[in-house]
Order: sequence, then structure tokens, then C-alpha cells
Amino acid sequence: MTRWLVTGGGGMLATDLVRVLDGADVRAPSRADLDITDETAVAEAVNWADVVVNCAAWTAVDDAETHEDAALRINAPRALAEAAGRKLVHLSTDYVFSGEGREPWPEDAPTGPVNAYGRTKLAGEEVVADHHGTIVRTAWLYGAHGPNFVRTMARLERSHEVVTVVADQHGQPTWTLDLARQIVDLVNAGAQGVFHGTSSGATTWHGLAQEVFRLLGADPERVRPVGSEAYPRPATRPKNSVLAHGGWAAAGLKPMRDWREALHDAWPEL
Ligand SMILES: NC(=O)c1ccc[n+]([C@@H]2O[C@H](COP(=O)([O-])OP(=O)(O)OC[C@H]3O[C@@H](n4cnc5c(N)ncnc54)[C@H](OP(=O)(O)O)[C@@H]3O)[C@@H](O)[C@H]2O)c1
Repeated sequence: MTRWLVTGGGGMLATDLVRVLDGADVRAPSRADLDITDETAVAEAVNWADVVVNCAAWTAVDDAETHEDAALRINAPRALAEAAGRKLVHLSTDYVFSGEGREPWPEDAPTGPVNAYGRTKLAGEEVVADHHGTIVRTAWLYGAHGPNFVRTMARLERSHEVVTVVADQHGQPTWTLDLARQIVDLVNAGAQGVFHGTSSGATTWHGLAQEVFRLLGADPERVRPVGSEAYPRPATRPKNSVLAHGGWAAAGLKPMRDWREALHDAWPEL
């Protein structure tokens, strides 16, 4: 039986991955049980495993602007990449791209992060690629086991008559359970390389918030569009985070389903 090590086991994606792997031989240590910067502990944990999925990350995007070195130590997982080599599946992000233009980003498009988090995640890709690991870039995640935009909008619908939401950033809302299934399929297919693990289709944060309101039976017109300048943040956000999915065919897999269909299925759990 394949032995799976899921690092960052307390996180949103990792929790759903463990669920998808129900019945498999899985270890999913939280940060307290396995710090991915601890070389000795990492070597021991990786030695046990046939597959390592690295869900551990510094995900506080704005804080990374002022703590880039600390974020880099976690997001460029040297010890894991060295110990796991080809066994590693590493999660990365749309933020490795600049967000310019309107076309979806192919897997081999030139990178160009516009913030510190993106730079640290790109450094992670480089160290993983150096050791022949596989990279799955994802974006706009939501799920039952962590704070996220979808749950925030559901809360705001109850407390606010009108909410204003950014309408000039484009991306692909992605359910962690869908991504977890895709990662397991990828590993089972024996495929390696760089893959884009986001839902099909695309929308804006405004479009996503409107869909949340619809699911709640609320009037989507209560969600008003604004530009990014209405919500200044320490870290610049890419305007175009839409990822292309051409890489899956080479692995004999279909891209992930449309974001709206996934959100409707996820809804009862969120
Ligand atoms: N969420 C998104 O929208 C999004 C978008 C693009 C890419 N991604 C990527 O997708 C992956 C999963 O994201 P997620 O949303 O599931 O993240 P998450 O919920 O923030 O989980 C990350 C986990 O990593 C743990 N961690 C942090 N430093 C660690 C260390 N040194 N050793 C071991 N564990 C450590 C955290 O523990 P503590 O909480 O105790 O610190 C947390 O449980 C990450 O690689 C992320 O960069 C996420």
C-alpha cells in the first residue's frame, strides 16, 4: 500500500486531502509534529513515505511583505525537496505570475511575481524542480477547514445590507476537496511536472461573492463592484490569475470542473 506523507496537516487543503485518502496509509503531521524546516525530522518522515504532498506553507500574503525571509524559509522547502526528490508533490500558486494581460497562464509561461509571497513561492518551485519534484499551482482556495473568501462573504451577507467587492481581479475559485481528488489522481497516474490545479472557468471576486449571495437566496445586486484601489493592501495582487490547464492531458487526466458547479456541490459543507 502506498504510504502518503501530507505535511502541514492542520491546513485547509491538507485536511481535505486526508479525507480523500481515507483508507490509505497516511501520516499528516501538523506543524507541531513536523516542522518542514527541521532537516532531521523531515529526513526521517520522508524516509517512511512513498509519496510526499507538501501542503505546509506561509500563506499570510500581506505579512510576507514585512517577513519575507521568514516566509522564504517555509515556502522554499529545501529539506523536503532534497529528502523527497521525485516523491514530492509541492503546492504552489498563481502568484508566481505577474497577472498582466487577459490570457490564461500556461504552465510554462514566464514567471514574474509582484509581491513577496509570490517571490517565496517561486523560490519554492525552483528548489523543488531542482530535485525533480512535481509542482501543482493552485489559487483562490476555499474549503470547510480554514478561513476563506467564500465563508467571509456568507458571514457578511448576514451582517451587511450592501457589500463592496473587488471586480478587477480575475481568477478561478477552487474547492479544496476537488483539488485534493485531483492531486490523488495525479499521483496515481504516475505523472510528473508542473500542473495547474484550479477550477475551470473564471470569474472575479465580485462574481464569486454574487454567486455566494445567490446560494444563500439573497439578492446578488447587494454585492457592488469596486476597483482594487478601494482596498489597499500591503501586497499587490495580480489582476489576471487565470491559469491554463493544458498540462493535464499529458498526464491522461481531465482538468478540474467548472468553479460554479464545484461551489454548488461544496456549499452544504462550507
Ligand atoms: N489558500 C489559497 O487560496 C491558496 C492559493 C494559492 C496557493 N495556495 C497554496 O496551497 C497550499 C495549501 O494552502 P492552504 O490554504 O491549505 O494553507 P493553510 O490552511 O494556511 O495551511 C498551511 C499549513 O502549513 C502549516 N505550516 C506553516 N509553517 C509550517 C512549517 N514550518 N512546518 C510545517 N507546517 C507548517 C500551517 O500551520 P500553522 O497554521 O500552525 O502555521 C498550516 O497548517 C499552500 O502551499 C499555499 O501556498 C493556497
